[in-house]
Amino acid sequence: MGSRTGLLAILVTCAIASLLSSSAQAQLKVGYYRETCYKAEHIVRQEVASVLSVMPKLAGSLLRLHFHDCFVRGCDGSILLDSTDNNDITIVEKKANTSASLRGFDVIDSIKEKLEEACPGTVSCADILAIVARDAVNLSGGPFWQVQTGRLDGRISNANDTKDLPPPDSDIEQLQAAFAVKNLTRKDLVVLSGAHTIGFSHCDTFRDRLHTSGNEQLDPAYQNELEAKCRAQPVAADATVQMAPKSSQRFDTGYYWNVAHRRGLFRSDAVLLADDFTAAYVQRHATGRLVHEFFADFGEAMVNMGSIQPATTGGEEVRRKCSVVNS
Ligand SMILES: *[C@@H]1O[C@H](CO)[C@@H](O)[C@H](O)[C@H]1NC(C)=O
Ligand SMILES: *[C@@H]1O[C@H](CO)[C@@H](O)[C@H](O)[C@H]1NC(C)=O
Ligand SMILES: *[C@@H]1O[C@H](CO)[C@@H](O)[C@H](O)[C@H]1NC(C)=O
Ligand SMILES: *[C@@H]1O[C@H](CO)[C@@H](O)[C@H](O)[C@H]1NC(C)=O
Repeated sequence: MGSRTGLLAILVTCAIASLLSSSAQAQLKVGYYRETCYKAEHIVRQEVASVLSVMPKLAGSLLRLHFHDCFVRGCDGSILLDSTDNNDITIVEKKANTSASLRGFDVIDSIKEKLEEACPGTVSCADILAIVARDAVNLSGGPFWQVQTGRLDGRISNANDTKDLPPPDSDIEQLQAAFAVKNLTRKDLVVLSGAHTIGFSHCDTFRDRLHTSGNEQLDPAYQNELEAKCRAQPVAADATVQMAPKSSQRFDTGYYWNVAHRRGLFRSDAVLLADDFTAAYVQRHATGRLVHEFFADFGEAMVNMGSIQPATTGGEEVRRKCSVVNS
């Protein structure tokens, strides 16, 4: 009897301890707002649809905002914060070099306004980014997945933390390491890279790939095309190149065809051929015959990316305005 009570006490203690440790980090789940703001996902989708109907090119940007948010301090909305008088000693993520090409902050701010009208103080900005990413993909012809919600917004944004983002000139080891630190696998890496099927890039981002004679990683005809496009010095601020020529506004497996044919725009695209596992994935999907498999993989990898744990400070909140912390 005595030993049973002892065992029970240990079990109860363990249960409490695990409850406590899990409550320190937000528990994500599908339909987190079902009771507190049942229209939340519907409102986001309507807004994304109306923006993309006039600016379809923005889909890639909206997807990238979630990626840049999650890789830096976890998915906590820190990418959305502006500098303020209070935190101007710290340069915010938004002002980091890695953010120079990010677009769509105004879209997130206006979605937040709509959500504040419907359900004040309820839906976090970090969750808005996750839902927007899903809808931007789906509205571009891509998959739909059950997006998990329940994130809180952080109060810290520091440009220095953007070092966690793998640069576009990464080699395969750097890419894998940058993903592994975030608990993401080689499969997540090659699948999430497929996001480059939509979007545009500025010449400055891949200048290292031009003017290199004997660049074995780049198809010569494609290299000529890129050089012609980016020749002007300085390049017009709006000179952009489709990340996946011919399919840049459609979410499909066109990216893998490009990489397999040495038309990956960034070095970080081309080097997916330098690892057996990622190369095999690229080759399989370059055929274009496994779109449904890629779509299912993509939804899964996005859920994994959306689960990157925030660097908690104890000051998390649901922001009322995405660009400033609550006062
Ligand atoms: C950011 O990094 C720079 C250079 O390493 C350092 O001087 C600065 O203090 C850092 N700023 C913050 C707010 O951590
Ligand atoms: C950021 O970009 C500026 C201007 O292009 C450059 O001078 C600076 O070295 C860059 N900083 C980092 C940390 O890459
Ligand atoms: C987009 O999502 C809807 C569900 O809302 C789904 O029926 C549709 O198949 C998705 N689009 C694609 C291309 O999978
Ligand atoms: C990685 O997973 C471990 C174990 O679940 C977790 O404690 C850690 O916070 C995760 N790291 C990130 C960056 O999500």
